[in-house]
Amino acid sequence: MTSPAQPQPVPKQASRPAFARWLGQTNDVTQTFLAAGRIPGLINLAGGLPDPSVWPVQALARHAHDAVALHPGDTLAYSPIDGLPGLRDVIARRFSRGDLRLTRDNVLITTGGMQALDLLGKVLLDPGDAIAAQSPAYLGALDAWMPRAPVYQPMRLDRNDVDISGQMTGAKFAYTVPNFSNPSGRLVGTEQRRELVSAAQDTGCWLVEDDPYGALYYDGEPLPRLLDLSASGDPYDGPVIYLGTLSKELAPGMRIGWVIAAPEMISAMTTAKQGSDMFTSGVCQRMAQGALEEGLPEQILPGILSLYRARRDALCAAMSEHLADLYDWEVPSGGMFVWAVAKDPRLDTGKLMQRGLDHGVCISPSSVFDPEGKDHRATRLNFTLNPPDKLAEGIRRLAEATRAELDTL
Ligand SMILES: Cc1ncc(COP(=O)(O)O)c(C=O)c1O
Repeated sequence: MTSPAQPQPVPKQASRPAFARWLGQTNDVTQTFLAAGRIPGLINLAGGLPDPSVWPVQALARHAHDAVALHPGDTLAYSPIDGLPGLRDVIARRFSRGDLRLTRDNVLITTGGMQALDLLGKVLLDPGDAIAAQSPAYLGALDAWMPRAPVYQPMRLDRNDVDISGQMTGAKFAYTVPNFSNPSGRLVGTEQRRELVSAAQDTGCWLVEDDPYGALYYDGEPLPRLLDLSASGDPYDGPVIYLGTLSKELAPGMRIGWVIAAPEMISAMTTAKQGSDMFTSGVCQRMAQGALEEGLPEQILPGILSLYRARRDALCAAMSEHLADLYDWEVPSGGMFVWAVAKDPRLDTGKLMQRGLDHGVCISPSSVFDPEGKDHRATRLNFTLNPPDKLAEGIRRLAEATRAELDTL
């Protein structure tokens, strides 16, 4: 006879270590966005996504095929941390103009513009260091630097009477998006661009020019880049750290970005990249090189501009019809966003975001673009993803939700 089975002792489970402290400081808005994506019929004005119809699918498929078939060494082997030399050369050539002299030593290829932001934090920030950041600021940048616990010196570039040097003093770097900032859609004027460059030269602060929207000018000619205005040295050794990406001009899924900066900064960021992802996918780099050599971004740009310009106009027309008594805004001359500030200072767009979901519209609240999370009065509205009729209906729903929210105050 076998003896009855003895109950097995439950293995002792030690409690696991806590996650790093910074994780507890992230906002839950991203989770709300993800959940909102599953609500049927919801109109999403919150994101910052390109319209998939602009992607040159066949041309990119051809470049993907050629990348592997013709360049297996570049695409299937381990490759240099700082990027394929051919792609770095193409980028150096595209951006060299006038007095700006760039070589491949000025260029680092990154896995999207997002990685460049992360690497910047790695090479420049010790805990408690200061960043002078254009206010309001890109959420992704704030997220990238959160683990390094920086302090922020807000930089207002929406007025001409601000002391830019004073705002930069003591900061490791100044973070700007001069072309159609995310989230404000604001274009920084040429005079203020010159002031930013001379303040960087006077204070010794690095000056970051994050430029995903630089090709998306719907009205008027492109303004000079901070990089151009700071041209010095051969190769370039000025204070600007320029961040570029193919995400808005070609396709975000390629995850191709680049940094243009003084060689000492490129080598520091290269060291940091080694411990991040070793190198950016060779397949995507070779695709990008083929596409840039062929001039693919220039070929598709007119189509992108006319599609997005019409959508900007449709959104702003609907705003004038439904939101004129509720919000103030400026019509942006490019980019992907309109920044709407509530006339009633009591409106909390964090609460409005939740109420909007009941009315079938999703918006971004301003608190996530403020390092201190205190700005509750504005919302960022995207116009590139939805066709004009949906934009108009989304704005009508937003007006309804705003009135309902104001009625509770
Ligand atoms: C201001 C800004 N910087 C950087 C990025 C990152 O872009 P990506 O990683 O797709 O190149 C974005 C994306 O929307 C952005 O708006």
